[in-house]
Amino acid sequence: MKAITGFSKLTKDEKIKWLASELTGEAAELVNLLPSYWHPDSSTQKKFDEFSENTLTNFNFPFGLAPNFLINGHIYSVPMVIEESSVVAAASLGAKFWLDRGGFRARVLSMTKVGHVHFMWSNNKDEIKNYFNKIKVDLLSSLKHLSSNMEKRGGGILSLDLVDLTDKMENYFQLKLSFNTCDAMGANFINSILEQVATEFKTRVSEDLKPQSNDFQIIMSILSNYTPECLVECSVSCPIKELGHFSDAMGPHEFAQKFVNAVKIAQVDTNRAVTHNKGIMNGIDAVVLATGNDFRAVEACAHAYAARSGQYQSLSEAKIIGDEFHFTLKLPLAIGTVGGLTSLHPLAKASLMILEKPSAEKLMMIMASVGLAQNFSAVKSLITTGIQKGHMKLHLLNVLNQLGADQNQIEEAKLFFKDKVVSFSAVRDFLNKDHSLH
Ligand code: MEV
Repeated sequence: MKAITGFSKLTKDEKIKWLASELTGEAAELVNLLPSYWHPDSSTQKKFDEFSENTLTNFNFPFGLAPNFLINGHIYSVPMVIEESSVVAAASLGAKFWLDRGGFRARVLSMTKVGHVHFMWSNNKDEIKNYFNKIKVDLLSSLKHLSSNMEKRGGGILSLDLVDLTDKMENYFQLKLSFNTCDAMGANFINSILEQVATEFKTRVSEDLKPQSNDFQIIMSILSNYTPECLVECSVSCPIKELGHFSDAMGPHEFAQKFVNAVKIAQVDTNRAVTHNKGIMNGIDAVVLATGNDFRAVEACAHAYAARSGQYQSLSEAKIIGDEFHFTLKLPLAIGTVGGLTSLHPLAKASLMILEKPSAEKLMMIMASVGLAQNFSAVKSLITTGIQKGHMKLHLLNVLNQLGADQNQIEEAKLFFKDKVVSFSAVRDFLNKDHSLH
């Protein structure tokens, strides 16, 4: 492909034409199909276009619903946006299983977010520390115009500290601020405040302490997506005997004990822990996406939290206490229910309506419950039937659609593959041999 200048200045049609002209054959044909994915309503399409840059079209993902989530005594139907087959089914199965056993109990442990001004100071350490203490109140006052609205909503800046990190990196200090951003994820609020405090700090230090330019340098000001103090916990429990019976005549006691061991394995073995947590994030990400939240931030933070002990471990924990089975998930979730895409994207807005317009705290609890349901269903399958049985049912449908099967062929294939291993080639052979694919 050729390099191009001024691509962003082209209209959407021109961008697509340019791209098609750079491609040949099937690729060019596919690119010419992009407009068929535009929204029929041009003002809605304009909204989508403006979320990002150089937009050509929309990329559709399934928007599904997992009903029957009983959380703290209230039933929710949870919207999920995910392309992977089995995830919504697993969440729904997990929700239904626990609906009959008391449901999910969730609580938010804390809602604090942090951000930092990273700077270098190579003069006397006490000089900057004493000076910071002297101007701290003034620094906070200089931020009032940015924080007053958030304060009216019950949030704002919670603390401002100078952190000496010179033992980790020569001359490295931070201004560390912590925040309560109420129902907003708060990235813009936090970053605006950090940039303002950095400017004020730089001016004051330069005027009063008169350091040489090499001795004092603001490096950057940015929120941290690591939010271990924006934490939610969710758990389920029931008497072991109420867990029921599973495949191969596995009774509830064997199931509970096998389940606890499966989760313990994810605490001691990183290989398993990553896959285990991926299953949890299957559920959480789908709700994060459906509600217009930032899944990259949630993912980055969850995995850093999983490694907080120095070893990457399971985010969930399972225990047998006396005759009871207990299963808990604890993780940080910095999400919002106001601002950002949550009100701009019509489907994010619809998701929040379906969830009865939750506060950020409620949404954290809902997301954690979906993560726990997902994890429960995945581990339950793994220690009983294996996951391929359920997975392959949906995978079969994807393969059949990919191969252009019609409804009759789909029904026949479902019967044929009921007790057989599904693979792309097996399905193609089935359609070619016995069921005349084109
Ligand atoms: C697949 O997307 C997720 C699982 O691998 C999770 C797990 O192994 O726990 C089924």
